[in-house]
Amino acid sequence: MTTIQLTINGTTTEGSVEPRTHLADVLRDQLDLTGTHLGCEHGVCGACTLLLDGAPARSCITFAVACDGAAVTTIEGLDEDEIAAELRAAFAREHALQCGYCTPGMIMSARDLVLRLDHPDEQAIRVGLSGNLCRCTGYVGIVRAVRAVIEARRQRGIAAEVGAGRTALGPVGSQPGAIATATSSALLPVTEMKLSHGVAPATFDPTEVVPAKSFDASFTVNAAPERVFALFGNVRTLAACFPGATITDLPTPDRIEGEIRVAIGPLSAVFRGSAQIDRNEADLSGRLIGTGRDRQSRTATSGQISWRMLPIDEGRATRVVLTVGYSLSGPLAQIARDGLVRDLASRITTTFAQNCDRYLAGATNQAASERPQRLNAVGLLLDIALSRMTALARRMRRQ
Ligand code: FES
Ligand code: FES
Repeated sequence: MTTIQLTINGTTTEGSVEPRTHLADVLRDQLDLTGTHLGCEHGVCGACTLLLDGAPARSCITFAVACDGAAVTTIEGLDEDEIAAELRAAFAREHALQCGYCTPGMIMSARDLVLRLDHPDEQAIRVGLSGNLCRCTGYVGIVRAVRAVIEARRQRGIAAEVGAGRTALGPVGSQPGAIATATSSALLPVTEMKLSHGVAPATFDPTEVVPAKSFDASFTVNAAPERVFALFGNVRTLAACFPGATITDLPTPDRIEGEIRVAIGPLSAVFRGSAQIDRNEADLSGRLIGTGRDRQSRTATSGQISWRMLPIDEGRATRVVLTVGYSLSGPLAQIARDGLVRDLASRITTTFAQNCDRYLAGATNQAASERPQRLNAVGLLLDIALSRMTALARRMRRQ
């Protein structure tokens, strides 16, 4: 046990903790301050967010011993706080509360935004709150409430504390710049890391792309392998079949510049980047290697998709066998767990396969691209949740 001293909501207290005990457990279990909620206990959901020496921090991944001498403010400590009072009223007015489980963490992060954002910029608010997940998916009211409080305060002549020593918005431990630097150096070429955020690299070295994770997938298309292989060689049609993808330039026949649009929870991302395609006519295989970056969330990704066309049904149809490798770093990487990425990839693959089928059945590029212009991960997540609940219900019925 280690003895530590903390100033919690203005009162100095001393206690003994195990080195492995997290701050959230000390507050909830030893001090009965249960306003700090625990959701994931992995630093992902933001429910446990509190203020550590004035900055939002995730208490579920903060060791209490590391906080010796620190000032801790929990949601209980904001009873008399002016900004928190305005936020509480705005949350109630804008119907931003719902079940309320995420609310203490939301208020902590929102208070930080109200304090520091110069203007009520919706995108900046969404990025600032992207480390706080709401299971009720009620971000519209929450964003509106935060925006209203910022707007009202600036109109009353209360200036923002812009910067105030910090370079990025968001809770301690989830700051995008810090994460990108800490986790991506092994994955991204040095030249790319020096680029300003959001600017796609003009060139990149495919040999530098080393995916951190990979998985296999496959789908069937009702056309002969040669036709499917030819489709995979036509990048414009291929992009039209891929949900959310747009080509912006084709500098050389094997090089693509483009973007993929995604919406996850409160965060919209547009990954802009480059990719290179290699093809092997002899065995009807190929490979796409690419890197991309979202300017707003500062999330970087790189990956490699390899494919092989296997004839089935006596060559009348094709089994497309894929190996997908990827690396993700930045805020979105926090919520993109392996299982989730695989589920999403499988949904994307299904849509992609359907679009390929439609195109090969005679549809035009335009018809093949009749798909959501943005890859809406929320819709996909709901779909996944529904299918998992259906599977669970089936299992329970069988027992
Ligand atoms: S409980 Fe701490 S981030 Fe989820
Ligand atoms: S209000 Fe229910 S989790 Fe956010």
